[in-house]
Formats: sequence, structure tokens, C-alpha cells
Amino acid sequence: MATRKLQTSFRSSPNSPALVLYRCFSDDFHKRREKGNNSEVRKEFRNVTSFYYQSAIDAAAMQPSVRLTPAAILYSGKSADRSHILRSVQYLHKELPVRIAHRINGFRNLPFIVGCHPILLSVHELYIRAFHILSDFGPIRDLEQEAQWSETLRNLLDDHKDVVTRLAEGFSECRKYVNDEGLIKTFLDRTLTSRLGIRMLSEHHLALHDEKPNHVGIINIAFSPRKVVEKKAEFIRSICEAKYGVAPNVKVNGHVNTTFPYIQPPLDYILGELLKNAMRASVESHLHGNGIPDINVTIANNDHHFVFRISDRGGGIPAKIVNKVFDYNFTTSGSLVDDKVDGGLFGQIMDTGNTGPAPGKMHGYGFGLPTSQAYAKYLGGSLTLESLEGIGTDVYLRLSHIDGRSESFRI
Ligand SMILES: Nc1ncnc2c1ncn2[C@@H]1O[C@H](COP(=O)(O)OP(=O)(O)OP(=O)(O)O)[C@@H](O)[C@H]1O
Ligand SMILES: [Mg+2]
Repeated sequence: MATRKLQTSFRSSPNSPALVLYRCFSDDFHKRREKGNNSEVRKEFRNVTSFYYQSAIDAAAMQPSVRLTPAAILYSGKSADRSHILRSVQYLHKELPVRIAHRINGFRNLPFIVGCHPILLSVHELYIRAFHILSDFGPIRDLEQEAQWSETLRNLLDDHKDVVTRLAEGFSECRKYVNDEGLIKTFLDRTLTSRLGIRMLSEHHLALHDEKPNHVGIINIAFSPRKVVEKKAEFIRSICEAKYGVAPNVKVNGHVNTTFPYIQPPLDYILGELLKNAMRASVESHLHGNGIPDINVTIANNDHHFVFRISDRGGGIPAKIVNKVFDYNFTTSGSLVDDKVDGGLFGQIMDTGNTGPAPGKMHGYGFGLPTSQAYAKYLGGSLTLESLEGIGTDVYLRLSHIDGRSESFRI
């Protein structure tokens, strides 16, 4: 059953290393060994070692990653002969295999019992597959080759869209074997932010082909913080209503008319997670009262930073757990599967077109806050919260501008 699930979700072949290793850990494998079917057993172990002995990956993992500032991407210029698209693809063609190799190293360095978990192994395998597909692609010299490479990239992005959900699922099952919380946090922070960087660069390259008003690739030069809050609030309200039958209103105040250049997709994700938490707390703490209090979002913009403060009246976070809410897999949600509405927001992080009331989860894996905090730090900002136990919670998301006026992060 688990084998079939892995096969369908990862398009793995029956002899993929993840499935082979899964079989190695199964009872059936030991029975076959007892029956003396040793040549088959040896062959399966040889497949498994292919996860580790790959000199091309080792060589790429030794190279440093070349990270760009958003300002460098924004002002790199657009040329009529589309040479900017060729420059972009040549950078990515070299850069993506290096970044993927670094992440494969991360999987290899996980404690054995964690790294062998079938779900985590299948994600590891997805990275190995992506590495080979991208690094086997020959030099890109013209726009025709660029179009083929972009098609390959689009397919890979699609194959990897559920990686965060899979990591959340895998770690929730095997973290009991690990005492060192820092080790898991370091792995997940790096894997998730590296994935965010890869997806931002990839989506940016693919978007360079489109002519979207006010956009250079994925950078919205007239980004409106108010509009993104309103759009996400509407979407999360529809999920909340589907689950609880009611949803709080979201009021936006502060610098509501400000606009500036920014990369919207990571904010779509972070604000979505923060609003989900605020709505869940507001509804669950007022299920038997009359009326659900509003959620207030305040926007503040200055020369260096912009800030969102999300204030709810959902009763706050109890002191005994407030230090744990930024740990991966920490959740007060009763069961890991939210049975009333299925789906998941994780996979949709870069799918900016998917804003309708698609199915989504209200809460579940304890990944919303730690992932959002890792993204905020990656984007040169911070995510903190103040809980007033018995009243509500204020969450502060601070981010730095990308217009090149001040020190910026690198993607
Ligand atoms: N605004 C809030 N008010 C009260 N409690 C909160 C709030 N935000 C987070 N929490 C608490 O922190 C826990 C962890 O939050 P987090 O967003 O990381 O995970 P989750 O919401 O449980 O699951 P997921 O985000 O993966 O769907 C929540 O389960 C909840 O107990
Ligand atoms: Mg959450």
C-alpha cells in the first residue's frame, strides 16, 4: 500500500532507489533473504548505494552558489533581441545543478534513521533526478534550446510542487527518533529556503517571456501590500468558512495606499499562513459566543523596511507553548489530517494564478510559522509574535525593500 502510494506520487519506477530501500526495510525483504534469494537482495542494495556514490553530484556540491540581489535582476535590462532571456537561462543552467547538489548533500547528512524514511527518501530521489535532468542538458546557445530547457524546468517545478507537504509528512513520522531539534531545524530551514530561491529564480525566468503590466519577471514594480492582504484574506476566509461555517472579517489600516517594487509569491504564502492561524484562533475561541472579532492588519512602510502587523483576538498562545510555536511539526491541531477540507496550501506557493477558493487546509503539520519565519529571514526580514494570553496575538512580519536603496538579501 505504502509502496503504491510512493510510486504514484513520485512517478517512480518499480526499481527506483526509494522503493528499493523501502522494500529492503520491509518484512518481505527479510523473508526473501532467509529463503536464500541472495543475488536479488545484493542487486537491490547496489541500487540503494546509487544514492551516495555519484561523482557528478559530489563535484557540483563543491562549487559555491552564485546568489543575485533582486535589484540586480530588476535592473538587468530587457533587450529587443531577447538576449536577456539567453543570459538568464545560461546563469540558471549552471546555477541550478549546484544548488540542487548542495541540497542532496543535506539529505545525505541526515541521521540514518531519518534519511531512510520512505517519504524523505523519495524527496531525496526527486532531487537526484532533477540534478541529472538539468546537468545532462547540453549547452544553451539559442532561443530554441532555451525553449526546450524552459519546458524541462516547468515539468520539474510541477514534479516538485508537493515537496514541502511531503517533508512535513515525513518529518512528522520520524522526528521521534531524533533528540537534536536544531539538526532538523537547520536541515528544513536550508532545504525550504533553497527551494524558495530556486523556485523564485525559475519562475522569474519563465515569466520573462510574458508581458504582464507592471511586472519584470516575477517582480511587481507597483506592489501594493494592501491588495495582497485583501486577496489572501478573501481566499483564506473561503477555506475557513468551508471548515467552520463562519470566518472573521479582516480590516486593513496604516499605509494602505503605498506601492513599491516587490516579489509577491513568497508573501502570498507567508500572509496566507499567518491569516490561517489568526482565523483559526479567532473562530475556535469564539465558537460559543456571539460574533467573531475582526482581524486587524496594519501596514507600515518606511525607507528601509515595510511591516505587516496581524492582530487577532483569538485568545493568545498559552505561555507553556509559546516557545515551541516556531518549531517544525509543533501543532495544537488534533489530527494531522484535516478531514473536512483536503488539499494543501504548501504546494501552491509559487502558483500565483491559483487564487480561487481551491481546497486548502486550515491547519495541520505545524509548518506554517517555522516555514514563514525561515522565508522572512531569507528575504532579509524577521517574523516575531507577541501573545497576550487570554486576549489575542500580534504577529509582526518585517521585510526589507528590494529597490537597491539599502542593503538587500540575495536570492
Ligand atoms: N494567532 C494565533 N493564535 C493562537 N495560537 C496560534 C496562533 N498562531 C499560531 N498559534 C499556535 O501555534 C501552533 C503552530 O502554528 P503553525 O502555523 O506553525 O502550525 P499549525 O497552524 O498548527 O499547522 P500548519 O500551519 O502547518 O497548517 C498552532 O498549532 C497554534 O497552537
Ligand atoms: Mg498554521
